[in-house]
Formats: sequence, structure tokens, C-alpha cells
Amino acid sequence: MADPGFVKVAQVSDLRPGEMIGVEVSDQQVLVSNIDGTIHAIDDMCSHAYACLSDGELRGKEVECPLHGGAFNAITGEPIAPPANTSVRVFQVQIEGDDILIGPPNS
Ligand code: FES
Repeated sequence: MADPGFVKVAQVSDLRPGEMIGVEVSDQQVLVSNIDGTIHAIDDMCSHAYACLSDGELRGKEVECPLHGGAFNAITGEPIAPPANTSVRVFQVQIEGDDILIGPPNS
């Protein structure tokens, strides 16, 4: 049984290492990625302007924004390439069996 506040968004078996998807959780757009077999979740909206990071490229731990080429650490949400200079939020992740559950962002 999922913890309150956690929502199933996908299945682990549908997200291979190196892949990412954009999902919506409680009206928030969330980028879910599989990095070396571990599922991570950050804001899908770039902190620089209006662009979905899930439309960009995932290379290792780095997700590149499709609009101006800014990049973020897809695990920590920290900006790693300009013009992105503000972190995006990290969301809590739970795995139940094959289910990926996304919870609230870390404060
Ligand atoms: S909108 Fe993402 S780098 Fe500008």
C-alpha cells in the first residue's frame, strides 16, 4: 500500500537505465529518470524559462534542457551548465514491486 501523498506514475520495467519520462503528479510536472538502475525524480520544468526537461537529453546523471542548453544534475536538481543557474526540486521516490511512486518534493 502506497504511503499517503505518493502516486504511481510508471513501472520500473518500462523505464530502462538511461531513459527518462515526464509525468504529472498533483498538478506538478515531474521528470522521472533511471540512472544506472536507480529511479530519480526532479522538476520537469526548467528553472531558466518555460521548457520541459524531459524533452531534452539525458546523458548519465546530466539532463540537458531542450531550449537553451542549460543542464541539471538529474539526481540532485543542481544546475551544472548555464544559462540554468537555479536548482530544480527533487521529489521523493518509492518503489513498490514494479511500481514507481512519486511523493512530495524534498523541502
Ligand atoms: S529554458 Fe532551460 S536553459 Fe533556458
